[in-house]
Amino acid sequence: MLKGKKVLLGVTGSIAAYKSTYIVRLLKKIGASVKVIQTEASLDFVSPLVLSTLSGNKVITSVIDKETNEWINHVDLGIWADLMIIAPATAKSMSKMVEGNCNNQLIASYLSAKCPVYYAPAMDLDMYKHPSTKNNIKKLQEFGNKMIPVNHGELASGLIGEGRMAEPQEIIDFVIKDLNKQKELYGKSCLVTAGPTQENIDPVRYVGNRSSGKMGLEIAIALAEKGAEVNLIMGPSNLKSNHPNIKQINVVSADEMFYEVDTIFPNSDISIFSAAVSDYKPTDYYTEKVKKTEDVWNISFEKNIDILKEMSKKKKDSQLIIGFALETEKEKENAIKKLQDKNLDLIVLNSTRDKESTFGFNTNKISIIEKDLTITDFDLKEKSEVAKDIVSFVLKKIKKQ
Ligand code: CTP
Repeated sequence: MLKGKKVLLGVTGSIAAYKSTYIVRLLKKIGASVKVIQTEASLDFVSPLVLSTLSGNKVITSVIDKETNEWINHVDLGIWADLMIIAPATAKSMSKMVEGNCNNQLIASYLSAKCPVYYAPAMDLDMYKHPSTKNNIKKLQEFGNKMIPVNHGELASGLIGEGRMAEPQEIIDFVIKDLNKQKELYGKSCLVTAGPTQENIDPVRYVGNRSSGKMGLEIAIALAEKGAEVNLIMGPSNLKSNHPNIKQINVVSADEMFYEVDTIFPNSDISIFSAAVSDYKPTDYYTEKVKKTEDVWNISFEKNIDILKEMSKKKKDSQLIIGFALETEKEKENAIKKLQDKNLDLIVLNSTRDKESTFGFNTNKISIIEKDLTITDFDLKEKSEVAKDIVSFVLKKIKKQ
């Protein structure tokens, strides 16, 4: 969520300023770029040398660069930032933020910031309780700034109460959760099936297909990036998601996949069925390895349950259901038939005509067919980009609902 984001950290003069070093470390670990501005009062609590070493950027402490004696543009940093965190935010700095009293670089950057601003108050309990502080909190909220709640605990004065700055990890978690809430699919629950299924013949042999699960994984990531909570039901594959919004459930056979989907589907707002489910399974399962005594081995197969079709029968009007069609001939005609037979909102047609759009490749070429039979053809793209195209259609559908 914060990977690649430009974060401006403002540090003001509180004993909690020492914790800003951990905030910088956590942000860097996530992959954010961090620039720090310190107020003069904070210099007694934490050294700019520590913060510049940890952030990899020169720390701004005044409106003039003391080394070069040059004026620092006081609005540049506010414009640069994707988000600003002021931690710790003292009672004095909060009051300056309310008044717009920009007698330092931090407040000037705050006033010019176009991005979301978070602040983590740090002060003694009576200062925190004071009507003037409460009033400032109210004003800052009206301005659209987000307060990271204080903790209850031991304070620098030795007193115990409310006013301790949130811990660095709590600050990061708060920001991530809050940014997530602003995303288009926040609060939506999604289900994605992915990968192949394997149908066992005996303890060592199975029937399967070459699906890698890449397309489904990318779809799950694209949904999660939009703030959705995703259940990814993955057939046998080495792929694994580490996105915090994705819960991956690994299965082997179509029956196992059906069981998991059937449990999760009723509570899913959006379900995307990209798995290459084996259409058939061996009629008999041999509990011991079959010996090669016969010259010809005939295996009989029976049909697997069509997971997508079963779910579409249970679909409520508020649920979106999207299927895939893998076709080698009469592609659009067959895909439209599946869209209608399975009562889908959209179908993604995977053409096998382009050799880099089949199983195992990182690229795919799709067409999306809507219920009203509008067809949108896409170019050959990376699967991560294809996933974004599919999710953009999902968003379009949701907006129409
Ligand atoms: N699907 C499913 N369960 C199955 C078979 C297919 O959930 N047992 C889903 C796939 O995940 C895909 C869609 O149904 O979203 C279409 O799959 P596809 O194999 O292209 O079509 P089928 O309906 O199986 O028909 P056919 O194989 O005859 O083309």
